[in-house]
Amino acid sequence: MMTEVLCVVGARPNFMKIAPIMAAFPAQAISTKLVHTGQHYDPAMSDSFFDQLGIPRPDVNLEVGSASHAVQTADIMRAFEPVLDAQPPRAILVVGDVNSTIACALVAAKKGIPVIHVEAGLRSNDRAMPEEINRVLTDQISDLLYTTERSALANLLREGIARERIQFVGNVMIDTLRAHLARAVPAEATLGGKPARGHAVVTLHRPSNVDDPATLRRLLETLGVVAREVDVVFPIHPRTRSAAERLGLAGLLAAPGIRLLPPQGYLEMLGLMRDATLVLTDSGGLQEETTALGVPCITLRENTERPITLVEGTNTLTGPNPDAILACFRDILASGGKRGRIPEFWDGHAAERIAAHLRAWLDGTA
Ligand code: UD1
Repeated sequence: MMTEVLCVVGARPNFMKIAPIMAAFPAQAISTKLVHTGQHYDPAMSDSFFDQLGIPRPDVNLEVGSASHAVQTADIMRAFEPVLDAQPPRAILVVGDVNSTIACALVAAKKGIPVIHVEAGLRSNDRAMPEEINRVLTDQISDLLYTTERSALANLLREGIARERIQFVGNVMIDTLRAHLARAVPAEATLGGKPARGHAVVTLHRPSNVDDPATLRRLLETLGVVAREVDVVFPIHPRTRSAAERLGLAGLLAAPGIRLLPPQGYLEMLGLMRDATLVLTDSGGLQEETTALGVPCITLRENTERPITLVEGTNTLTGPNPDAILACFRDILASGGKRGRIPEFWDGHAAERIAAHLRAWLDGTA
């Protein structure tokens, strides 16, 4: 029987998005298969999420691994085409904005296979960000675009996407958060005791922050200042660790109060964030997760593609600017920071809305 929706994942932030979508398909009798491109391959960056989130084992793993953007994207395309040729599905579904997202969308679109994009329409308006290119291009070639926040609609209309292709369904990553919060590993279990001073969770991996020596130095020095007042818990991304070593900045990671951890599992990370005094990050996902958890977030970027986290949530943008970061940090310590509220449709049911709409779309009744 023909697969109706072939789902694609590749990198860590894709896994928590695909889990609730695939879990919602059986209730709508949507037949599905899963392709993993292998963009992320370390057990801590990939397998652990399949285990903890109950994602089905991929039917196909393209095993592309790491390379430059061009080579990685091209490798994914070359490996994905024969998968579609062997068993063309009715449609493919891609999530987020990583290289796997655009690579597989492009292969399918050229074959006339409809592309469904979940988390469409987010825009940082910063083309220096590789993900922004992936977002704009994926949305242009998608047939059905599911959005997480209302700002996405105006972005898509401005780019000429037809209104009837766009559906506001809410945030599937927050479905996963709500489904697993009760099972989150408490921070004190991960840290071997509760930090008496409280803790900040830090993640850092954007090229704009970690590949430039002066920026990375400023950021790591600022974390050293934060660590004078709260424990800084830093699950370090492989590219950040290698950048710090290559640029001779590894000493700053050993400052008193900074606790480096390897990449964490989903349930461990959820517990670390839930129990934190604050989060400092350049991740897209953490901006949304902290808003859902009501934990203050300092985003170490000049812009965000997720403006609802600023307007309704707990997020503040500081860029990589030490004075702005420390001013915001002191404000959070003094007053608890932004309280925020839960955005519309971040209610744990986004994937069910997608599956219900998709059923009708596949049946030609949407
Ligand atoms: C990718 C995504 C980014 C996402 C991030 C989450 C793109 C353009 N970027 O960035 O949007 O926020 O994932 O992590 O798709 N590496 C390992 N083990 C792995 C995977 C990667 O050690 O399992 C190392 C390799 O040295 C690799 C580097 O990390 O070169 C970067 O990996 P890559 O997938 O190219 O980009 P990320 O920075 O992870």
